[in-house]
Amino acid sequence: MIDIHSIKIPAVSPSLLAADPARLVLETKKAENAKCPLIHIDVMDGRFVENVSFGPSTVASLSREPGIIKDTHIMIEEPYRYAKEYVLSGADILTFHYEACLDIPLRFLTIQEILVNGGIPGISIKPETPVSVLKPFFSKVGLILVMSVEPGKGGQSFIEDSLKKIKNLKEMLYSLPKKERPLIEVDGGINEITGPKCLAAGADILVAGSYLYGHDDFALRVKRLLGEKI
Ligand code: DX5
Ligand code: ZN
Repeated sequence: MIDIHSIKIPAVSPSLLAADPARLVLETKKAENAKCPLIHIDVMDGRFVENVSFGPSTVASLSREPGIIKDTHIMIEEPYRYAKEYVLSGADILTFHYEACLDIPLRFLTIQEILVNGGIPGISIKPETPVSVLKPFFSKVGLILVMSVEPGKGGQSFIEDSLKKIKNLKEMLYSLPKKERPLIEVDGGINEITGPKCLAAGADILVAGSYLYGHDDFALRVKRLLGEKI
């Protein structure tokens, strides 16, 4: 199992949803070459969200790229049924949706399934879900993913209210010892304007799809997201 606190933050996790689907290994290399410690793999089931995207076989084929953390975001119903398969396929971090489970025991079951199979659990909330619901999971997960667009597709505009959620979350997490604090990730509508704002609000990892893929200056864009002078 990787140590979530060994990731150099702030970090960018490029989303393969915006990459060329016929060249996913090559597209992952682009992230590695741009010094991104993670690659974001969006899994959609056509039920929790309307679209269908990658499945466990995609995660498995990318797990042959050992140099980069497979940051897998499952936008699927009943995540406790599939968590084991995704972790065993090579998902280092497996982030499921708070809203995809009916009750607290099923959320803990999902976390347990991820942990016993050697993965790092992450939990995500949609834009309308308040951060306060995550309190019981703070010490159980390695990552909290704040969705800054409605999950389901790339290329949407950033919801500004997400900045307040990140700030609140950061404040709430201060009560935990540093080594036990989950990292804060933000996903959706991240670009050179919204990315640095999220970092200032307290985000540790920025997910970016359409801002990075399909552009020749991928590595330069990663730097811009991090607010580095270039
Ligand atoms: C949306 C996905 C995102 C998506 C982000 O449901 O979870 O990871 O790829 O795409 P952009 O960066 O284009 O908003
Ligand atoms: Zn995602």
